[in-house]
Amino acid sequence: MPNEKKQCEHYAKLCAVLEKNENYQKFKAYADRILALGNDSLEKTIAIAVALCLVCAVLVSFAAVALKPLQINNKELDMKQNILDVAGLLEPGSDIDAAFAEKIEAKIVDLETGDYVESINAGDYDQRKAAKDPAQSIAIPKDKDIAHIRIKAKYAKVFLVKEAGAIKSIILPVNGYGLWSTLYGFLSLDPDGQTVQSINFYDQAETPGLGGEVVNPNWRALWKGKKVYAETDQPSMDKGLIAEADMGEPALSLIKGVVDNSKPGSQYQVDGLAGATLTSTGVTNLIRYWTSKEGFAPYLSKVRTVKRGVS
Ligand SMILES: Cc1cc2nc3c(=O)[nH]c(=O)nc-3n(C[C@H](O)[C@H](O)[C@H](O)COP(=O)(O)O)c2cc1C
Repeated sequence: MPNEKKQCEHYAKLCAVLEKNENYQKFKAYADRILALGNDSLEKTIAIAVALCLVCAVLVSFAAVALKPLQINNKELDMKQNILDVAGLLEPGSDIDAAFAEKIEAKIVDLETGDYVESINAGDYDQRKAAKDPAQSIAIPKDKDIAHIRIKAKYAKVFLVKEAGAIKSIILPVNGYGLWSTLYGFLSLDPDGQTVQSINFYDQAETPGLGGEVVNPNWRALWKGKKVYAETDQPSMDKGLIAEADMGEPALSLIKGVVDNSKPGSQYQVDGLAGATLTSTGVTNLIRYWTSKEGFAPYLSKVRTVKRGVS
């Protein structure tokens, strides 16, 4: 009650101030004159239309400003959901924030060196925003820009799933141009930095039913177990014969038609999207770009080396 009384007093004060204001009096006189006009008056029609536009503009602006924090929150939640999904940790009905905080660790990686950058708080870092900032990004030379993205952030935000201190999944952000749009997604790899766990695209505008099938769970399931790098014929590290993990070039590609899993080389192949060769080529290119030396190859090489206790 005291609050309501205060509000009434405040309102009364405001009215008193307005009543004394010359411009308000002029406006009031004008409004009274307009309202007294007949409904078929051109001046009244225009004045009412302008007033309506002003009121709507104020309402829309207010909604945009007031809902901004909610939008940001929802965007973050959606991103966390996608990361949990590609990590195979999304449980229907679960608390996304809690699951993400418990199971996922975000790290910043210097793409050139492959080292972690501890001076940047991963929670605050927005890689897509950084890619648009000339101070935080690098222009990609045309001959290396197979993903057609033109610029990349110097630092990437990767996500790790750990169990008892050991890495279980490495989740890499990837992007590249399809037919109509830049596709943004996550590629999840085994700790070997070579075997695919899953892929998802959370932002793309390819045609639904054609290139848009990149979001189809059945197609996404085909990626599990595929290899991103050509295996070299050098002696295996597993046998302790070489000191450092030595992967070949990025080799994964989407092929036209269905992959025959019994054939040699099929471990590097995923079915292309039917009627969407251009989007499929875009996906091949973006995966090859981000697994190349331009992308995460230096980082993945370091993850393998550390895992095997070489450095
Ligand atoms: C309305 C329309 C939308 C299309 N959308 C896509 C698309 O999202 N991705 C794509 O690769 N091709 C799309 N295509 C088809 C391409 O133009 C091209 O024909 C196709 O990529 C060739 O693939 P195919 O050799 O598997 O038929 C679209 C075609 C039309 C007419």
